[in-house]
Amino acid sequence: MRISDEFLFELRQRCDIEDVVSGYVQLKRRGKNLVGLCPFHNEKTPSFTIYPESGSFYCFGCGAGGEVVSFIRRAENLDFTEAVRFLCDRVGMTMPSDGFDDSLAQKRKRIYEMNREAARFFHECLLGEKGSAALQYYLNRGYTKKTITRFGLGYAPNEWRALLTHLREKGYSYEDAYEANLAQKSEKNGKVSFYDNFRNRVIVPIIDARGNVVAFGGRVLDDSKPKYINTSDTPVYKKSLGVFGLNFAKNSKERSLILVEGYMDAIALHQAGFTNSIACLGTALTGEMAHLLSRYADEILLAYDNDEAGHKATERAIGVFSSIGMKIRVIRLSGGKDPDEILKKFGAEKMRSLIEGGENEIEFALLKARDGLDLESSDGKVKYLTLAAEVLSSVKNSIAVHVYSSRLAEELGVEKAAIDAKINQLKRHKAYGSQKKKYDEIQRDSLSKMSKLRLSTKTSVRSVRAQERIIILIFENPDFYPTVKEKLGSGFFSVPVLERIYTVISQRIKEHASLELTSLSSELSNEEISEFVRLTKQSERFSGTKKELLDCIEVVESEKERTQTQSLDVSGLSDEDFLKAMEKLKNKK
Ligand code: CTP
Ligand code: MN
Repeated sequence: MRISDEFLFELRQRCDIEDVVSGYVQLKRRGKNLVGLCPFHNEKTPSFTIYPESGSFYCFGCGAGGEVVSFIRRAENLDFTEAVRFLCDRVGMTMPSDGFDDSLAQKRKRIYEMNREAARFFHECLLGEKGSAALQYYLNRGYTKKTITRFGLGYAPNEWRALLTHLREKGYSYEDAYEANLAQKSEKNGKVSFYDNFRNRVIVPIIDARGNVVAFGGRVLDDSKPKYINTSDTPVYKKSLGVFGLNFAKNSKERSLILVEGYMDAIALHQAGFTNSIACLGTALTGEMAHLLSRYADEILLAYDNDEAGHKATERAIGVFSSIGMKIRVIRLSGGKDPDEILKKFGAEKMRSLIEGGENEIEFALLKARDGLDLESSDGKVKYLTLAAEVLSSVKNSIAVHVYSSRLAEELGVEKAAIDAKINQLKRHKAYGSQKKKYDEIQRDSLSKMSKLRLSTKTSVRSVRAQERIIILIFENPDFYPTVKEKLGSGFFSVPVLERIYTVISQRIKEHASLELTSLSSELSNEEISEFVRLTKQSERFSGTKKELLDCIEVVESEKERTQTQSLDVSGLSDEDFLKAMEKLKNKK
């Protein structure tokens, strides 16, 4: 069920977009609009714009756009209903309790509160009688009292239901605790019983960037197994996106994040003054995680453990971060197994120098290539050169290639020209391989008849522009709708997001429902509302008459016929001719 248009209208009246956004972005006035650095991507010159007149925002850098609820949806990572609730709290409005299902939002709120209560409980246990060994454990690790308080570290007593009993006193059921993964459930002879998930462990609360306690990690006090137990996925936590320390690191002045494997490492680093340290909790670093981190930093300093698993994970992470264009440096922890050990053995100064001497990914790959090779022997030299050339052949920056091949030449006493020749040969191979791959992909795509490529060959830019205009024309003049409703049947829009926006708008016109931006946004995703706001911004240049509308429809229809008759028959072409033909088509666009 949707929240009523009237309520959303009222909310939008009360939540001034300029006001709300200025809590996140420093805004400067520019004419009747305001601009600032976009909070949704990294930029140095402001392309994020607020339009107070229409109550909307749009970023010309990353294409994020919408109105005040979509802004909160993105900024706070909430769904639409939660974002509405967030704004209601701010302006003292009460959410309408009927008419929509907010049970998930309620549930999440309850889990946040329960987690906070659990964190408080664990912390008190640590400082109480039962916690003396645990406290000693932390102190032995070199954590100060201040650190313990700052991170809210705790201890889970060696009992089956210590936390459960406490939570029950606070009004939470065992089932509640189970849902937050604070309890385990067992069934014997048809009898269900619950017990604490964390027992006799030191506890580290995981707090997200907004300050919510989302999960816990628990470590044994000795060498028993398993060493760590962590909260698994719950309604408020997705382990693969779990980050420890972001609540502090996001406030650090640095535009870089030190990423380490363990949260104990991260705590030790914070204590030593490296307050931009974080640890990821998911086992494998994902693209989604990289995106999340890119909101807080331009550069990642990777300080994974100095062992084989750590090196593997480092390689993987380099791939993931580079694929989204983030800068990355690898910190080699020479002399220790992880940051915690480096700090203990050599102190913060050593750590700082390791961080400052961080290698870029090329250096890291080259160092790895020479692993285990004897560079004194000719055999070892040849092997290293081959591997190194392989590494350099995939480096796009030609200056970097030049620098490293010169260095290699000197190091190994080989002609630079010979190294360059090898690199170029490998480059040509790769280019051929990737062309072949491209061709195969195109083939597969055109067979499945669903590809973007097909879309770009069969839809002209002219047609897409016309489709966009039609949407805006109907939005601005709902009385045009009856004229076009038959003509714009299914298949009219060739771009899915346009089809989707049209469907929502036309449905609302049919129901005589509001076309207010916030109401539309309640039915559109972040991407869809962004696209829509982008379209509205382009609208001023046009006439907005019914004649324009009919012209646009005609353009779409005639373009459709034209491209259908000249669509490409690829079956008889050689690979090369086919690629040429594709290039031509692309350039025409
Ligand atoms: N980890 C885990 N389960 C394990 C071992 C490790 O979940 N059995 C995760 C934890 O998130 C931990 C991280 O992997 O923080 C790093 O593990 P490890 O290097 O073993 O931990 P350290 O930080 O070195 O732990 P300590 O210094 O306490 O031995
Ligand atoms: Mn470790």
